[in-house]
Amino acid sequence: MSSERILAANWKMNLTAEASGLLGRGFLDLSKTAKRTKIWIAPSFTAIPALSKILSNSTIALGAQNVHWAESGAFTGEISSSMLAEFGCSFALIGHSERRHILGESDTIVATRAKGALKGGITPLFCIGETLEEREKDLTTQVLRIQLEALISEIPRESAAQVIVAYEPVWAIGTGKVASLDNIRDAHGFIEEFYRSTSGESPRAILYGGSVSPDNFQDILTVPHVHGGLVGGASLSAEKFGALIGISEKS
Ligand code: PGA
Repeated sequence: MSSERILAANWKMNLTAEASGLLGRGFLDLSKTAKRTKIWIAPSFTAIPALSKILSNSTIALGAQNVHWAESGAFTGEISSSMLAEFGCSFALIGHSERRHILGESDTIVATRAKGALKGGITPLFCIGETLEEREKDLTTQVLRIQLEALISEIPRESAAQVIVAYEPVWAIGTGKVASLDNIRDAHGFIEEFYRSTSGESPRAILYGGSVSPDNFQDILTVPHVHGGLVGGASLSAEKFGALIGISEKS
């Protein structure tokens, strides 16, 4: 089982490069209080060069919110692993629910992105999760299985232990409705077991995402197979993110 603790900030389509730089400097101060917690930031693409400079001698990992599978080519609007690596990015979110449900990225597309990222030396932070309708129809496990199967069938077996999985119930993202501890326990237990039995390896870590806040994070971290959080809204405030780091350090 992973003993890693990762707190990943997903800034989504927020903040100009200048504003991202300011928040990044705030995170830099916060990182000095983090001993066991690894801080990761996924800003917008345009803020990556500025943050790359600001975070260059820090313990904070810089990443992107998506990555294409090809090295280069006719893929208008996309970005490759080497373009991200040029600015020191070490990871990328892949298959975030907003990519799957608003931009229509399929299980196959996101699994192919993960394969390309691994080939390009970028760690996939691979997001999965069910919609409210799927949960109400008792389809959660089935949905997670299909999303993981697509991933595992695409990536090389020897890279399986490098992938980080984020469980993000779609209905909990940005809604203030956090999943119950039982929901999280069941989903993370299933992800760990299914991933290991299918790929032969545990994922590097499994993060929970969906309305993580200083009010609920301590409880979430008590759940088995939760190795940290993927944080949207609360990561746009240095104060709230600092409180999450504080909780992580003590838990
Ligand atoms: P949220 O977003 O913390 O605002 O719910 C999480 C995410 O989308 O990764």
